[in-house]
Amino acid sequence: MINSLFDKKDGRRKWFRSDDRFNSLYPSSIQELAKRHWTPLRMAKKAAGFLADGTAGQRILDIGSGVGKFCLVAAYYFPKVYWYGIEQRKQLTTYADAAKNYLQLENAFFNHGNFTQLNFKNFDHFYFFNSFYENLDDSDKIDDSIAYSEELYIYYNRYLSLQLEMRPTGTKIATLHSYGEVIPSCYKEVGSEFTDELKFWIKAE
Ligand SMILES: C[S@@+](CC[C@H](N)C(=O)[O-])C[C@H]1O[C@@H](n2cnc3c(N)ncnc32)[C@H](O)[C@@H]1O
Repeated sequence: MINSLFDKKDGRRKWFRSDDRFNSLYPSSIQELAKRHWTPLRMAKKAAGFLADGTAGQRILDIGSGVGKFCLVAAYYFPKVYWYGIEQRKQLTTYADAAKNYLQLENAFFNHGNFTQLNFKNFDHFYFFNSFYENLDDSDKIDDSIAYSEELYIYYNRYLSLQLEMRPTGTKIATLHSYGEVIPSCYKEVGSEFTDELKFWIKAE
């Protein structure tokens, strides 16, 4: 799976130079999914920069963390922040952990489970790459290992929206390819990048 040791001079930096290089940390079946399902490096870096405001020890959750690409990029560029991922597919969490161990990033953590099992009070800010979209008929699926349904799409969106609504003023969310349907109205859009594909939100008073 993982194909070479750290460069002596460069440390782990080389893995963050391009998406192709980073994606080569994973098997080819996972690399093939990258374009559609894993956050591109420069978007991950930009989103992480918005969420990490410089306070050491912040805890940030990626809701549906896949093979960990967002958290690992964020952990590399923002080492004082703790980046957490929750992922419903066990195999993807295993790949995330393997890449984390290889990159020796001690501030990224991956858990296998459904995001509905988490206590949102344990996190300060959130990242969301439209994770529930695969429940809709016309979407590209990662695999056929789980059941999909429109009911689940609606349920997850409502559940997440409610959790976000209960977070304190100042809570931040970065969304990718998600056009605000899950964001409660108490959050204000405060910016966007990449022709609106990546959006930034903060909970107002
Ligand atoms: C579009 S991928 C994004 C992966 C990662 N956040 C990234 O940006 O590289 C969405 C992921 O969310 C996961 N997911 C979807 N619904 C979930 C749920 N209810 N609980 C946990 N994970 C979920 C999927 O299995 C998939 O791996």
